[in-house]
Amino acid sequence: MEVIVARDYDEMSRVAANIIKDEIIKKPDMVLGLATGSTPKGMYRELIGYYNRGELDFSNIITFNLDEYVGLDKEHPSSYHHFMNDIFFDHINIGLENTHVPDGKAQNLEEYCKQYDRLIKEKGGIDLQVLGVGENGHIGFNEPDEELNMDTSIVELTESTIEVNSRFFESIDEVPKTAITMGMNGIMQARKIILMANGKRKAPIIRRIVNGMKLTTRLPVSLLMLHHDFTIIVDEEAYNG
Ligand code: GLP
Repeated sequence: MEVIVARDYDEMSRVAANIIKDEIIKKPDMVLGLATGSTPKGMYRELIGYYNRGELDFSNIITFNLDEYVGLDKEHPSSYHHFMNDIFFDHINIGLENTHVPDGKAQNLEEYCKQYDRLIKEKGGIDLQVLGVGENGHIGFNEPDEELNMDTSIVELTESTIEVNSRFFESIDEVPKTAITMGMNGIMQARKIILMANGKRKAPIIRRIVNGMKLTTRLPVSLLMLHHDFTIIVDEEAYNG
């Protein structure tokens, strides 16, 4: 595990975007695993900047997002579909047919989850997975629990995640209680993983990771320490508290 401490949020975003840029230059048809939330917004902004300056071409890139709320339309302003289009895909030269965000309104959700994993495999597997981390140690929507899912699954959100994520909704009652998320195996199969965290809120969980915590399903992020190419990029606030 490598830990990069950036001065602030902007520098963290630049470092992450640079890693992605290097990977895209090495493999212009790479499969990129993407995350939503507040953390990666600056990284997307940097990548859009590269595209605008003619330094990156996304036309052959394939993306898979980690998760989506169950029951939200793609157009719903709080859906991860909407987030990805609005924050990133609408601003670069990627064909929307090459982007995949789980469909939280799929008819048969269980079958859909299997299809999602099959599709990732068919496309050659994820080359680089971008992650954020929940304050409770969740990754994607893999919430702390006694057991964790291997594959893409439907999961119940914890009260704390519903509360933290309610800032993206008009009221807490609107936050869906269930979500679809890539499982731990799907994430761990990525050839390279980068995880970003910024701000004081993330300091307790980051401190545990960088201090070499033990593995526990109670903190899904801890399993990433088993990955052979795992980089954490944090700002000073998340690092020092
Ligand atoms: C959300 C998402 C995660 C994200 C995490 C942190 O619930 N499902 O994929 O990494 O919580 O979010 P933020 O970046 O807004 O702190």
